[in-house]
Amino acid sequence: MNYDIKDLNLAKEGKQRIYWADRFMPVLAKIREQFARNRPLEGIRIAACLHVTTETANLMRTLKSGGAETVLCASNPLSTQDDVAASLVSDYDIPVFAIKGEDTETYYHHIDAAINFKPHITMDDGADLVSILHSAETDEKLLDNVIAGTEETTTGVIRLKSMANDGVLKYPIIAVNDAKTKHFFDNRYGTGQSTLDGIIRATNILISGSTVVVAGYGWCGRGFASRASGLGANVIVTEVNSLNALEAVMDGFRVMPMIDAVKEADIICTITGDIHVLRQEHFEAMKDGAIVANSGHFNVEIDIPSLEELSQHKVNVRNFVDEYTLKDGRKIFLLAEGRLINLSSAEGHPASVMDMSFANQALSAEYIATNYQNMENQVYNVPNQIDASIASLKLKALGIEIDQLTDEQQEYLNSWTMGT
Ligand code: NAI
Repeated sequence: MNYDIKDLNLAKEGKQRIYWADRFMPVLAKIREQFARNRPLEGIRIAACLHVTTETANLMRTLKSGGAETVLCASNPLSTQDDVAASLVSDYDIPVFAIKGEDTETYYHHIDAAINFKPHITMDDGADLVSILHSAETDEKLLDNVIAGTEETTTGVIRLKSMANDGVLKYPIIAVNDAKTKHFFDNRYGTGQSTLDGIIRATNILISGSTVVVAGYGWCGRGFASRASGLGANVIVTEVNSLNALEAVMDGFRVMPMIDAVKEADIICTITGDIHVLRQEHFEAMKDGAIVANSGHFNVEIDIPSLEELSQHKVNVRNFVDEYTLKDGRKIFLLAEGRLINLSSAEGHPASVMDMSFANQALSAEYIATNYQNMENQVYNVPNQIDASIASLKLKALGIEIDQLTDEQQEYLNSWTMGT
């Protein structure tokens, strides 16, 4: 088996952590049991380009139980957990191409290795596999093998929808991110908690009493703002969308343009999916000692080249903390080179939310295996029945029962004449 990981000797620790995550992933475990019985993915090769974490390991195990042949590469150079990569290779016979901190060349070399596996299904977090399969340099025969793909995150879905709109998308994609059982929970509670976790692990600063600025009040930003506020921060939100800005105001946060917010900020975190949300004019207005981080998908939300240009000196002062000294002597601390802070300096989302996200991935792969012949080169939502079944399985696993509609209520809700 071909693979490229940091060190196979890390497997023991990886296996223990995969087991720990599995305890919080009961829905995925149930799907794994069903897959082992029914083998819906028999004969299908799946290339996954996802963050190499304990939760992803449990997804890979599930796909393999369903009969799929799988390969895994990283969807970010800093998010790989090397012990998990080692365990997947040595305990589960799943080839992995990922090393934490790999350079850009190695990162793409690893994606090429996954593509050369000749997948029938691609599983992306940020559309890297799709982009490379669609590039002019890639052998078209590899693209011919692919029946469909799935996409895990907001930024990837936006890109794939724009490819579909331009008529250049060459195979169907299921937008896992857009399932309600994904973004309502993963983006909001998972990113919210783990982004703070990442900032705290990198810096060990006290959140209480500090002024925290969050750029973007979408699914991730809402979760982050509410959790920072819960720890006692004074939270300021910046937005470009009036509706989301208004929601932040009604949720009790101050909202203002970034140029004003940075003057007060102790910590600034971008989670927008946009480019250069923090740029030269903002660095010039920041307080001495401001801490800057990003949790959006790509490391473009903070304009790092312009920060470098404004600085006379840069030094690494702690793991994941670079101190930039500006020409006037002020210091700005950039965390994790502007890459996803929750996956760089912490462990990413808690397993309990990834349980639902990855249940969507596994069931979408099964759906593709059965229905791909009827799918067009478009971006599809996860079928409603999959979304609903995951919510009900999760409630069941949590031991929570809910009421059922009575016959009378069902009739009432379906009629426009009753009870008026
Ligand atoms: P979303 O679309 O729900 O929210 C993004 C928000 O940012 C929108 O309200 C938008 O108006 C706002 N925005 C855009 N440009 C802005 C600007 N220049 N200044 C201020 N606000 C701006 O997207 P979601 O789901 O919250 O995802 C955000 C990013 O986080 C994406 O890149 C997504 O892929 C990524 N993501 C990261 C995760 C992680 O583990 N760190 C997990 C899930 C998503």
